[in-house]
Amino acid sequence: MSETSEKFIDLVQPAVTNVSPYQPGKPIDQLKREYKVSYVSKMASNENPLGSSLKVATALVNFANQMSRYPDADGHNLRAKLAEFLKIDMSEVTLGNGSNELLELVARVFAGPGDEIIYSQYGFAVYPISAQIVGATAVEVPAVNYGHDLQAMLAAITPKTKIIYVANPNNPTGTLFRRDEWEAFISQVPENVIVVLDEAYLEYAENACRDGSYPNGAEYFRDYPNLLVSRTFSKAYGLASLRIGYMLGCEEILQYISRLRQPFSVNAYAQVAAMTALTDPQFVTKSLRINDQGMMQIRAAVEAKGLKVIPSYANFLTIEFGENAMEIYDKLLHEGVIVRPLANYGMANFLRVSIGNNHENSHFMGALNKVL
Ligand SMILES: Cc1ncc(COP(=O)(O)O)c(C=O)c1O
Repeated sequence: MSETSEKFIDLVQPAVTNVSPYQPGKPIDQLKREYKVSYVSKMASNENPLGSSLKVATALVNFANQMSRYPDADGHNLRAKLAEFLKIDMSEVTLGNGSNELLELVARVFAGPGDEIIYSQYGFAVYPISAQIVGATAVEVPAVNYGHDLQAMLAAITPKTKIIYVANPNNPTGTLFRRDEWEAFISQVPENVIVVLDEAYLEYAENACRDGSYPNGAEYFRDYPNLLVSRTFSKAYGLASLRIGYMLGCEEILQYISRLRQPFSVNAYAQVAAMTALTDPQFVTKSLRINDQGMMQIRAAVEAKGLKVIPSYANFLTIEFGENAMEIYDKLLHEGVIVRPLANYGMANFLRVSIGNNHENSHFMGALNKVL
């Protein structure tokens, strides 16, 4: 930022001056503008390469004349549908403008300056950002094998700890913790520390853990009232642009979260789309199958080149390239392939690639062959 554009910096709240904003994947149109490429495969934001369910598209078209109405601020119908889908009570679920909104609202409800928020090294970027936004201290706990070291996270709890964020699987590493590890952790967290279990990639992980060892958060939040489980329609359901996620937890905490949320943060189209998406499990099944195939294909191709990957339980693969990762990223952009550099995660030697459809995967593998 230039000096002249910092004339208001002294007026800005101290917490805001410390925020390092979230860095999204490069948009397709931007790449076309900047790199003059005509065919682009965006494999940078872990979106669903199948798009979304046709049933959802039809429902939205039929709802197109409702734009002049405010949405249901309470999200009643979707919450009722989710409650039925998950066999829980409606009071145990709240909605958010993407799960991102909910992750951040938890920090606003429970933490402030002087408090500590624990997350893992290589943990999802929104956790330290949420701490920064509320002026809390972000406590990063070293990872093991790029994944959460849950016992070390327990050991990092102090009287100042308010929140622990854990992602299962984690983004950007795709790592997973199993039921036994999770139970040993959650049963030892003091009741006055809020645990946020981020299950953005739940569907992929359950599919990948065929032995049933994935600890589904919905089975735990009743036993542990300090546990909140966040989920999203952005990934396996393919609704990223609509911004719709939800959180499971005890009614009291969800009500505090609702106090801070803007009344209409979840728009009516997102609510209709999510409700309809829940009626089309075949779409999710197909998405998981496409992901399995693409994951195997990309992993085999990358390993055949002698590159290492972090085994992933989600819809992306993180690849170690060495010191020239940024150069490879840039060369891939010139080939029309957008992946995600991870220097902001302290993983400068890695690139993360979202699993795409057949075309995208071939485009990536062809481009990689060329640039290597
Ligand atoms: C681990 C994790 N949590 C949460 C999110 C936020 O998703 P959304 O706000 O689209 O629900 C993402 C998005 O990439 C993610 O990777």
